[in-house]
Amino acid sequence: VTLGIDVGTSGTRTIAIRETGEILAGASAEYPCSYPRPGWSEQDPQLWWDATASTVREVMAKAGLKPGDVSGVGLSGQMHGSVFLDESGAVVRPALLWNDQRTGEECDEIESRAGGREALVKLVANRALTGYTAPKLLWVRRHEPEHWDRVRMVLLPKDYIRYRLSGTFATEVSDASGTLLLDVTYRRWSDELLGKLDLDRSLLPDCFESFEVSSKVSELGSKATGLAAGTPIVGGGGDQPAGAVGNGIVRAGAVSATMGTSGVVFAHLDQVGFDPEGRLQRFCHAVPGEFCAFGVVLAAGGSMQWFRNELGRAEVAAAKEQGVDPYFLLTDEAATVGPGAEGLFFLPYLTGERTPHFDPKARGGWIGLTVRHGRAHLIRAVMEGATYAMRDCLELIREMGAPVNQIRLSGGGARNPLWRQLQADIYGQDACTINASEGPAFGVALLALVGTGAYSSVAEACDATITLAETVPVDPKAKALYDAAYPIYRGLYGDLKGRFA
Ligand code: XUL
Repeated sequence: VTLGIDVGTSGTRTIAIRETGEILAGASAEYPCSYPRPGWSEQDPQLWWDATASTVREVMAKAGLKPGDVSGVGLSGQMHGSVFLDESGAVVRPALLWNDQRTGEECDEIESRAGGREALVKLVANRALTGYTAPKLLWVRRHEPEHWDRVRMVLLPKDYIRYRLSGTFATEVSDASGTLLLDVTYRRWSDELLGKLDLDRSLLPDCFESFEVSSKVSELGSKATGLAAGTPIVGGGGDQPAGAVGNGIVRAGAVSATMGTSGVVFAHLDQVGFDPEGRLQRFCHAVPGEFCAFGVVLAAGGSMQWFRNELGRAEVAAAKEQGVDPYFLLTDEAATVGPGAEGLFFLPYLTGERTPHFDPKARGGWIGLTVRHGRAHLIRAVMEGATYAMRDCLELIREMGAPVNQIRLSGGGARNPLWRQLQADIYGQDACTINASEGPAFGVALLALVGTGAYSSVAEACDATITLAETVPVDPKAKALYDAAYPIYRGLYGDLKGRFA
């Protein structure tokens, strides 16, 4: 039995799985995020630790596990967050999170110190994004020197949990890629970029492959969680690469489309590749020696969430009474109009956009409204707009020449039949769903199985535990319609971008 712990932004999820992939038990604990100023996003790492300790205990109790029954632990979590520790290992200030937007100037500074965007991409395979870790370090150094002077170690969120569990400082290549300080190609810290940014290498932990045992549970960690001291902890992975392992995206040709609040289109790569503009996030995969590229749509499912909250109150109330999911009432209504919503488009940029526009100022909206359009069109357009935005990411993956042999759907968008069909038709390719639904926590529990010798490779662990559930064939008529509408959708952002205030 291994545990997978996913330290997310809204909560921590822990599961226990058997070697067969069977999930024995799961537990979640939620916590808040603080937004001290517009665009800022922070969390106290202690919240993650409390949630980890309580969910591990809960899972062990539910599954009837004794401390010695757990053979390994895998850690996953929100990527890019910066945990600042002082000499004694105490947290210096709240962590800045992946969705924090305060570091625009620091991103410019990093690109210029690196000798331009292309030079930066050559060093670390990525352009500078406000969400990444390196610009957060520069921000604290510039704006809070009293804090910076005390910082001796910077950890990613899940690696802080490793520290509390084991007393050791360690990370692994997939999450480290999202710091912007890793030489992704050679899977080691970039001394060259660290030098250009005047950052000391000693601020960063040792970096492992994701399946490797990095640490063991300490006496203190054991006391807090009920795990046996000495239990091995493997590297684990950032939530995207770990989620990809959980979806079985571990070979070239496999691509996943995950529609949660945000949407991610993720491709496995066996070569890191190069794009001078860094239009996709190109990271080390949680599979040894392999890479990945992905694009992030900030408000994919989030656009539907917004619609449900603001314009779907009647459905929310009705759904409560009928004991059904309000999204299903909304999508039933959307299904009453045909593909293309009779010419109505929706831009899903409700929180700016990451891929492919990298524009925090991008804004959303319906375009093309006529008196013929009703609510059903509005809903359908929201679903289609979010899916076109996912297609933007998929097109970048196709453009870079990565094979897209199979698209696996996951997240909320995979649970809804209309949204499944719409995705196959808009991506222009058959899509499929899988049996596993635990994403990152499942992925790192698999990595722990590999690291402790139950399987000889990540692909073998995935093959043994993940099966295809359903294939969603493309409807050729709808595909033709969407192929014609997609360029119009693409053009709208370009036409409007100067107008967003
Ligand atoms: C990945 C990303 C998010 C965070 C939070 O680049 O920003 O997926 O990991 O979940």
